[in-house]
Amino acid sequence: MGGLNGLDPSLSPSFLSDTSAKVFVAGHRGLVGSAIVRRLHSLGFANLVLRSHSDLDLTCQSAVESFFTTEKPDYVILAAAKVGGIHANNTYPAEFIAVNLQIQTNVIDSSYRNGVKKLLFLGSSCIYPKFAPQPIVEEALLTAPLEPTNEWYAVAKIAGIKMCQAYRLQYSWDAISGMPTNLYGPNDNFHPENSHVLPALMRRFHEAKVKGAKEVVVWGTGSPLREFLHVDDLADAVVFLMDKYSDLGHVNVGSGKEVTIKELAELVKEVVGFNGELVWDSTKPDGTPRKLMDSSKLANMGWTPKISLKDGLHDTYKWYVENVSQ
Ligand SMILES: NC(=O)c1ccc[n+]([C@@H]2O[C@H](COP(=O)([O-])OP(=O)(O)OC[C@H]3O[C@@H](n4cnc5c(N)ncnc54)[C@H](OP(=O)(O)O)[C@@H]3O)[C@@H](O)[C@H]2O)c1
Repeated sequence: MGGLNGLDPSLSPSFLSDTSAKVFVAGHRGLVGSAIVRRLHSLGFANLVLRSHSDLDLTCQSAVESFFTTEKPDYVILAAAKVGGIHANNTYPAEFIAVNLQIQTNVIDSSYRNGVKKLLFLGSSCIYPKFAPQPIVEEALLTAPLEPTNEWYAVAKIAGIKMCQAYRLQYSWDAISGMPTNLYGPNDNFHPENSHVLPALMRRFHEAKVKGAKEVVVWGTGSPLREFLHVDDLADAVVFLMDKYSDLGHVNVGSGKEVTIKELAELVKEVVGFNGELVWDSTKPDGTPRKLMDSSKLANMGWTPKISLKDGLHDTYKWYVENVSQ
């Protein structure tokens, strides 16, 4: 099926060789989709097909089929999904499994039926077992039970990977999957209650700075290790995979660099310019001690991230100040 390192140029024409190709980026207003659009524009792609959620509900099969029949995109990057933290997953399990299965089933199947040359499906590191050995390799998929708090979402994402594999096997169709680590950057969700740790810290330090607060209290001991990737690096990796990768297996996309939550918080504090004290409430839970993906498969193909955490935080804070904090 694939050639050396999973590369099989004969199966898929070079994505980058035709910047006039029609590319549908599903979910283009989100953190990931907007970064992919920026990257494609910067490479000269001028024929992007974009639809907001209100213009095209991807859970509606007839609407999706009609969109594909009319637009006939050449390539599809699937970055639309219902995403959320532990609380949202626990409260709306039915929506998390049903909406994500519907979106990806509709988009993948209509893409195949309407002559799309290549599709890239995006999942996330939650597809892996709760106690997968670290760093987590692609082969850890489906080897042990999932983290129960987000298994609804994870099961849908695993089905997306399997659907890409099944269409490749049965129809020799070029569908691939990328699994990003924790992402951050412009267009992230800075909601006070349901955002991820990095934007949540940024917001709290910023608000404390503006109010002149003396301290910011953060839950836990700060000892858990996490991996972060700037979303512009992810977008670059997505384009790289569209151009270079064509094989059955999904591909991890991470920075390979771990920081403790404490190091992250200190760095965010510095970038935001909060001069008060950072206090750790160690009576509160820490969460999983370590979560790192093994991205050597992608590195062996020749892709590495370029944006350091510090530069990425500066870039994200600038965007936050200009777009959210007012
Ligand atoms: N953020 C991370 O740290 C991270 C990490 C790993 C993987 N990923 C993956 O990357 C993908 C995108 O995540 P993200 O962080 O960019 O999420 P996001 O910011 O919430 O963006 C998701 C996009 O999908 C759209 N969408 C949702 N339901 C839709 C529907 N029924 N019809 C049409 N559009 C719909 C949303 O539009 P509305 O907002 O208008 O509903 C939004 O524009 C997901 O598959 C996620 O698993 C993200």
